[in-house]
Amino acid sequence: MQLEFPERISSQTVTKTAVNPALSSHLRERIRREFLPRWEQQVGGRFILHGRTPGPDAVRLDGNDYLSVTGHPDIVGAQVAALRHDREFVIQSGVFVHGEHPTRVLENSLARWVGKEDGFVCQSGYAANVGLLQSIADAQTPVYLDTLAHTSLWEGAHAARAPAHAFRHNDPANLERMLARHGQGVVVVDSVYSTTGALCPLRELLDVAERHGCMVVVDESHSLGTHGPGGRGLCAELGVTDRVHFITASLAKAFAGRGGFFTAPAELRYYILSSSFPNIFSSCLLPHEIAGLGATLAVIGQRDAQRERLRSHTRRLRASLSDMGYPIHQGTEQIISLEAGTEPDTMVLRDHLEERGVFGAVFCAPATSRNRAMVRLTLHAALTDAELNHVEAVAREVAPLVKPWDWPIARRARAAHAAQA
Ligand SMILES: Cc1ncc(COP(=O)(O)O)c(C=O)c1O
Repeated sequence: MQLEFPERISSQTVTKTAVNPALSSHLRERIRREFLPRWEQQVGGRFILHGRTPGPDAVRLDGNDYLSVTGHPDIVGAQVAALRHDREFVIQSGVFVHGEHPTRVLENSLARWVGKEDGFVCQSGYAANVGLLQSIADAQTPVYLDTLAHTSLWEGAHAARAPAHAFRHNDPANLERMLARHGQGVVVVDSVYSTTGALCPLRELLDVAERHGCMVVVDESHSLGTHGPGGRGLCAELGVTDRVHFITASLAKAFAGRGGFFTAPAELRYYILSSSFPNIFSSCLLPHEIAGLGATLAVIGQRDAQRERLRSHTRRLRASLSDMGYPIHQGTEQIISLEAGTEPDTMVLRDHLEERGVFGAVFCAPATSRNRAMVRLTLHAALTDAELNHVEAVAREVAPLVKPWDWPIARRARAAHAAQA
């Protein structure tokens, strides 16, 4: 079957210079079924994630460098020194790294910093989650994931061929019922949820997991650096590090680098190096990345003032946006989601914000469920009062145009409230 793709998909930004062999009819049919209707009808022929290009005065709320460490002289200095001086580096899989290698030094430092025995760095947080779950679960191990747990954790369960069970978001009672039905396994949560900024009720979930003899994985991507004493994360803040079996994190958030990390008991080192595919079948981080991450760890430890600024920005913006009628009640932390609902409504919201110089990030399926699309605003410590004033002024101006009080999430909250009254 020959399917003619609309011109703007096939040639919008691509100069055709090569002759491509015909794609299989199966692939064309899949694209026609799964992709084209959404592209043509929902999004109106524009790629939903690409809005305007931010100018120099834009307020950027679309990154995850929460403590604003990018460009810190100690980090840049360490990276440059590694690039200049490391002549003996061998590019190979992480599995070969041992002894006093700088990667092992970083792994040990990160592990000790979060209060664990040993750890592994990977190419990304995604790879870390896949590798860890692949090592600790299998087809006989039920894996219980919060509905909003990051996709990489679900992919890890799939890579392990484990039965994956979704429990209701932040709902320990629902987890308890699922455990009673499917039995002992691995419970997997995010500390701070990446689409909503909701905090995990970790103590309550641990109580449930412990009653059922489960192992627990906590993805601290959005709390490492920002939460806990010295930025050691949410487990450290709540004093539950010893109750959690494995901590994972992307190092592309507060660490603003390239990499991922997971902890494991020291006794599992060689088992994991024999079973985690990202550590075996993919190459290790480069010397300047390792050196940069090591320097970042030191910088993050000294950023109490920035952590406090981030918290204060979060309190301020959450309060003012709520007062204006934005339904942001899902979360409490530095990630604020403006959940317009449908993709067209989300694009309208995005365009209004961007026209006025405020840049968030559009999140939609597959990063959210269908019709729960949003513009996600992520705050960072270096935001100035003038920038926060501007964000608030824009949100106030845009509110009567996008009517956040009419978004599905606002209507659902009102209905739930009415049902309780
Ligand atoms: C909670 C969570 N875990 C894991 C990841 C993956 O991290 P990385 O971008 O380093 O692959 C992300 C990033 O989106 C995340 O938000």
